[in-house]
Amino acid sequence: MDDRLITQESIGEEEQLDNGIRPLSFTEYIGQEKVKENLKVFIEAAKMREESLDHVLLYGPPGLGKTTLAMIIASEMKVNLRTTSGPAIERPGDLAAILTALEPGDVLFIDEIHRLPRAVEEVLYPAMEDFCIDIVIGKESTARSVRLDLPPFTLVGATTRAGMLSSPLRDRFGVMSRLEYYTENELSAILHRSGELLGVEMEDEAALEMARRARGTPRIANRLLRRVRDFAQVQGNGFVTEELSIEALERLQVDRLGLDDVDHRLLQTIIEKFKGGPVGLENMAATIGEEANTIEDVYEPYLLQIGFLQRTPRGRVVTPHVYQHFGLEVPK
Ligand code: ADE
Repeated sequence: MDDRLITQESIGEEEQLDNGIRPLSFTEYIGQEKVKENLKVFIEAAKMREESLDHVLLYGPPGLGKTTLAMIIASEMKVNLRTTSGPAIERPGDLAAILTALEPGDVLFIDEIHRLPRAVEEVLYPAMEDFCIDIVIGKESTARSVRLDLPPFTLVGATTRAGMLSSPLRDRFGVMSRLEYYTENELSAILHRSGELLGVEMEDEAALEMARRARGTPRIANRLLRRVRDFAQVQGNGFVTEELSIEALERLQVDRLGLDDVDHRLLQTIIEKFKGGPVGLENMAATIGEEANTIEDVYEPYLLQIGFLQRTPRGRVVTPHVYQHFGLEVPK
């Protein structure tokens, strides 16, 4: 099979960096309690019936642990995990190659599943529902369709945009789990765990300070930890104190709420150039020189969650909290 389809490269660079500290079981996985408890029951039941687990859709903002959960599902089911992503599967034949190479019970993880081409998606429907695919052999007048049986498998799909999935695809998932932003306490516990694995000692207050600025997202918390560790190593004795963490976070230009320079530019642009909004997504993206998709998937969800931004039918509007955060007078 074409190696490009199933490789670690379909996982982002930062996700690979996380591999060393990634939790490998539900016991090690902190947070997402409801999702975790439900998945444990479904896995237990599937194991008791000696069946493959029903297909699972994990959705929510980036960095909340969708890939990690897929790995844990495969490990708890004691089956192989095959990882790919929507954009990596360009043609129906690519997907057919992946599916026919699966072993009974395997977990196939498709990240960014909302980016699967439509023609590929159509191969997935019978595969998910009846564990078979129809492939066309021959050309034009001699072309005929042949049905191939597949081993039972579990598709774990991940997306930042459940709304962008077609309904036939969405309807074929037996389990749909929405991942939520983590609390400060959960992030602080994750930071202590990662710190132990990375050999970084820190004060509780330092962990809390990083947790507060991690936008509810473990991937960001772990990224901040790695950078703060650098400051601790070079400027201190390696021990992460509260004072050192605050100084490092200021230098990293991550503010008290975890907003970085892109968030700042985005919010300040709406205030300064668009009188606080409403402004359309494309217009805003062009003004600050970022991709509209990146703004929508990465930046907006958290700004909406903390009540800094509102989506209206006429565009994005900043709320009075933003003016207060920047020490500006709230317009009447
Ligand atoms: N590292 C990243 N996400 C984690 C989680 N949810 N639990 C423990 N460690 C993590």
